Amino acid sequence: MSQPAVPPPPAPDWGRAYSAPDLTVYYAKARCIHFAACIRGLPQVFNTAARPWIQADAAPAEQVAEVVRRCPTGALHYTLNSGPTESAGPTRIEVRANGPLFVRGELLIAAPQGSVHETRAALCRCGASQNKPYCDGSHRQSGFEAAGGEGMEP
Ligand code: SF4
Ligand code: FES
Repeated sequence: MSQPAVPPPPAPDWGRAYSAPDLTVYYAKARCIHFAACIRGLPQVFNTAARPWIQADAAPAEQVAEVVRRCPTGALHYTLNSGPTESAGPTRIEVRANGPLFVRGELLIAAPQGSVHETRAALCRCGASQNKPYCDGSHRQSGFEAAGGEGMEP
């Protein structure tokens, strides 16, 4: 059975755009907690030493899209010029040790910043984020400690 496509929110919610001939990658800095799944996945595309740090044309578009989908926080999104939008799989929640809840699925997040359709989000559970309900990485400085249940595939 095919998964329902999630309608994209307006582009401003997705942050800055990085265009290549076949796709556009969007990066919302406020949602990034430096988990580095992107850098590990395609270092020639996601390279913090380069400017801009996202070289969207440095790998085939489908490969870039696949690595963008690994981003657990929703800091990265993409649109393919001729291809499907990202589709949501089953709803899953991963409790990260000493960190946020990683949530995936067909999400509608009603946040103070406005309601957004999402497929991926990191939600704060330490209370210290300045970007609630999203995690902003503050749990590392706040000394938050709580057991997790990692092991979910990206
Ligand atoms: S995978 Fe997402 S949260 Fe992690 S460093 Fe890349 S953009 Fe940031
Ligand atoms: S869990 Fe990351 S800032 Fe709260």
